[in-house]
Amino acid sequence: MACFTIHQQLRFFQCVSVIFFFLAVAAFLLKTPENCNGGPSNNLIITNGGISQRSSTPALDLTITDLQGRPLFVFGDSTVDAGNFRITTRPYGIDYKTATPRFTNGRTIADDLAEKMGTPIPQAFNSLGADDQHININFASGGCGLLTKTNPLPCTSMSDQVIQMINARVGNVERARAVYFISVGANDIVFSFQSFPGTRNEFADVLVSKMESYMKLLFFSGGARIFVVNNLAPIGCIPDKFNGSSCDDNLNEVAEAFNIRLESALNKFRKDYGAAIFLANSTKMFAQILEHPEKFGFKNTTGPCCGEWKALENRFDCGKNSSYCGDRDEFVFFDGAHSTEAANKLFVDYCLSGRVCSPLGNV
Ligand SMILES: *[C@@H]1O[C@H](CO)[C@@H](O)[C@H](O)[C@H]1NC(C)=O
Ligand SMILES: *[C@@H]1O[C@H](CO)[C@@H](O)[C@H](O)[C@H]1NC(C)=O
Ligand SMILES: *[C@@H]1O[C@H](CO)[C@@H](O)[C@H](O)[C@H]1NC(C)=O
Ligand SMILES: *[C@@H]1O[C@H](CO)[C@@H](O)[C@H](O)[C@H]1NC(C)=O
Repeated sequence: MACFTIHQQLRFFQCVSVIFFFLAVAAFLLKTPENCNGGPSNNLIITNGGISQRSSTPALDLTITDLQGRPLFVFGDSTVDAGNFRITTRPYGIDYKTATPRFTNGRTIADDLAEKMGTPIPQAFNSLGADDQHININFASGGCGLLTKTNPLPCTSMSDQVIQMINARVGNVERARAVYFISVGANDIVFSFQSFPGTRNEFADVLVSKMESYMKLLFFSGGARIFVVNNLAPIGCIPDKFNGSSCDDNLNEVAEAFNIRLESALNKFRKDYGAAIFLANSTKMFAQILEHPEKFGFKNTTGPCCGEWKALENRFDCGKNSSYCGDRDEFVFFDGAHSTEAANKLFVDYCLSGRVCSPLGNV
């Protein structure tokens, strides 16, 4: 759950992100230091419980409760986008306190994570003024994937999201204290796997090596020391891919191959650099929901709360005029691809109580 994608329809949006991309790359190549706090260096002193230590050794040992009260930076796709990609219309956000650009009826897992960590909900990077200094920023952009070829315009690619973070007006101490939450990969499987000239394992290898490279940039150039990485729920079970009686096993197998490789890559990253890494196990949450949906109050685990089937596009379309369910907390999925606020909240509750999220490589 909590992993899903944006629709092809959105790929038609035109914009200036190409120009932006070149500016961002140029800025990155010039390694523009940010002015107010001094840019991050590879040699940060990080503070863990009052003890200063050098960046990579010894390893930063944290438990899930240590995430409390830290700054939060968010990267990825529509599972966590807070308005960078585009502004969604009702009934999206119908259960949110204000008009919301999110791809669900209410809060995303990033919003809930912030609230549970006791830190302000990260604002969309694109909504910040040039001079704004924010503790928490959401860089995620709906539709994007780990691969550049997955990205529809005008989504902000993962590498641009990382560059935005590197250049953000955030001081070194805050960078090292912060939690970097990454939720991405589902769009690659839905949109790019079919045209990939290789096996699913090879595809998963490519995706995971992309993830590693973004994390390395965040670590070495962005000053990141604490990551929470969301794995992929069975993508073949989203309403868009559920055929009335079964999930799309092919897509699920790609997601599984990705998850296996992701876990070992994260373990290695932990071992090599000493960063604290938490795996947010979407797969595990989804399996628990499917096993006993009633235990969590869910009555519908396969269909969307909102949207009509569009045969030509092979997906559910939830738009301004769509009908939607009243009992949204009884649905796992809000539209054809995105989980409901109820499912998101459950995931974060389970995560921060240590049931589906755990630190890798700790004692
Ligand atoms: C759904 O997919 C399964 C497995 O591929 C297949 O056996 C079944 O006939 C399909 N059902 C429908 C309604 O298409
Ligand atoms: C994530 O959940 C899956 C399915 O329950 C499990 O096989 C895997 O070991 C879990 N990974 C971690 C790091 O807990
Ligand atoms: C789930 O909701 C869909 C509508 O989105 C509906 O077609 C389906 O019958 C529902 N399933 C159950 C078990 O209620
Ligand atoms: C929604 O319904 C209104 C009124 O019937 C119509 O004018 C409008 O074109 C519809 N919008 C979409 C996106 O279908």
